[in-house]
Amino acid sequence: MASASHLPDSPAGYGIVTRALHWGMAGLFLWQFASALLRVFAEDTGVERLFWSTHYSVGFTLWLLVLVRGVWGLANLHRRPRPEGSPAMARAARAGHLALYGLMVAVPSLAILRAVGGTRGFSVYGVQLAAPREAAVAWLTAPANALHGLLGWALLALIVGHVAMALYHTRIRRDGTLERMTRGHRGEAALT
Ligand code: HEM
Repeated sequence: MASASHLPDSPAGYGIVTRALHWGMAGLFLWQFASALLRVFAEDTGVERLFWSTHYSVGFTLWLLVLVRGVWGLANLHRRPRPEGSPAMARAARAGHLALYGLMVAVPSLAILRAVGGTRGFSVYGVQLAAPREAAVAWLTAPANALHGLLGWALLALIVGHVAMALYHTRIRRDGTLERMTRGHRGEAALT
């Protein structure tokens, strides 16, 4: 069983809570982007209907999880591992992570506001959170109409870059960056 000291992060690696949030959300994002890609490339097929029927509920779950992750990240900010590489690389990593967080919050938030302000109501996992309206509220729906899809694809591009950089650290620099998120505190020990 995990000891309490493995729950929070440490400079040697990420704790169990951060790793569970990271990999759990990675799996849900994979599913969420599969639904968006199928909507573009395979509209009105059985597989698209299956994935798209989960887009609101999985998106809402990701929104809740990113809020938890943000609070947990702030609480652990000063004991997290420092980015590897030159000062410029470390700055780029921080900027990239900040942009990831910004989009992970903005993309579902905009869509939820649109659903709440729209005429169809808003249900997740079969539970109605907002009733349908007779007329849409423009200031709630317009931002997502303009930006939800666009920022969603920008988030996908950033995630692809994030994965590429993790592979660069592991395969080329071999500096243990990925191991801190897979093996946690044991990652550092494995390198020495
Ligand atoms: C982090 C979570 C989410 C991601 C990554 C995401 C991603 C995307 C992407 C990339 C598209 C564009 C698909 C296309 O071009 O046709 C899209 C469309 C859409 N999403 Fe999401 N979504 C998320 C959460 C949500 C939530 C929570 C809702 C509902 C409350 C929602 C409702 C919609 C709707 C109605 C569309 C089609 C209209 C549009 O493109 O704006 N999404 N989503």
